[in-house]
Amino acid sequence: MGKPVLLVTRQFPEAVEARAARDYDARLNTKDQLYGPAEIIRLSAGADAILCASTEKLDAATIAALPASVKVIGTFSVGLDHVDLPAAKARGLPVCNTPDVLSVATAEISMGLILAAARRFGEGERMVRAGRWIGWKATELLGAQITGKRLGIFGMGRIGRELAKMARGFSMEIHYRNRTRLDPALEQGAIFHGSDESFLPVCDVLSLNAPGNEATRKWLNAARIALLPKGAVVVNTGRGMVVDDAALIAALRSGHVAFAGLDVFDGEPKLNPAYLGLDNAVLLPHLGSATVETRNAMGFLALDGIDAILAGRNPPNRVV
Ligand code: DGY
Repeated sequence: MGKPVLLVTRQFPEAVEARAARDYDARLNTKDQLYGPAEIIRLSAGADAILCASTEKLDAATIAALPASVKVIGTFSVGLDHVDLPAAKARGLPVCNTPDVLSVATAEISMGLILAAARRFGEGERMVRAGRWIGWKATELLGAQITGKRLGIFGMGRIGRELAKMARGFSMEIHYRNRTRLDPALEQGAIFHGSDESFLPVCDVLSLNAPGNEATRKWLNAARIALLPKGAVVVNTGRGMVVDDAALIAALRSGHVAFAGLDVFDGEPKLNPAYLGLDNAVLLPHLGSATVETRNAMGFLALDGIDAILAGRNPPNRVV
């Protein structure tokens, strides 16, 4: 019997593709083209499994139109907002994702953005590169000190908790807003808030680490921004859809939000062009999980899930 057929929708790290090619008749995307629904449906003809990424929108219509041969989808992401899970469930199509393995790398980007935004790395870098730096000045590019400030984490899942661990190294007081209060062993002294009204006013720094879904869409809107202390720092490494961009841009212009660090954008790779003109925003191209170790681990975990489903087992990273 031949190897099972695996459609691989993006170019993935070499080690991940090598394993896919070893264990599967892998249909690799060597040119890393972005596949739309029609191509995914066409290219998965006869495939047993699909290894995709968060850039492929697997909506209900696409899932319904996949060939019957497809028995599992593994997504190279912890985020699941690109996959219509109820449609997959209705079709009896298991979906596996990549939790845990990217938590530290993504928390590093959250912590990095907090420092980069509040200490004005972007502006300083641009000044040096443009030859505009004429020497040390006591009043130049003064930012906000982070050590000892209050950090509010919206979404205290695995990534939020890793960020809390790192922020404790900066003596930050940790507050969090979550659907439910965590066990004290997971809280590690972080302060739970059951309402936005009690949470937002204590966020000298607000970090968005929640998944993107209908409940979190545009959660950070003008009304909630108004509850932040004046001069707050906002960072987002979760999903762009959690932010009302017009409201955040207005707050960055007025200075109510002094600095922002954004790794994700609603409708990325397009972003609201007003961000580009804001010196007090540090903008990254969705780098949360972008380390060699993490991207390899994500690929291996997604493949573990696919392997297990095809072997009739139930892997821990199965979400549907
Ligand atoms: C994730 O894993 O969800 C990252 O944001 C990459 O898509």
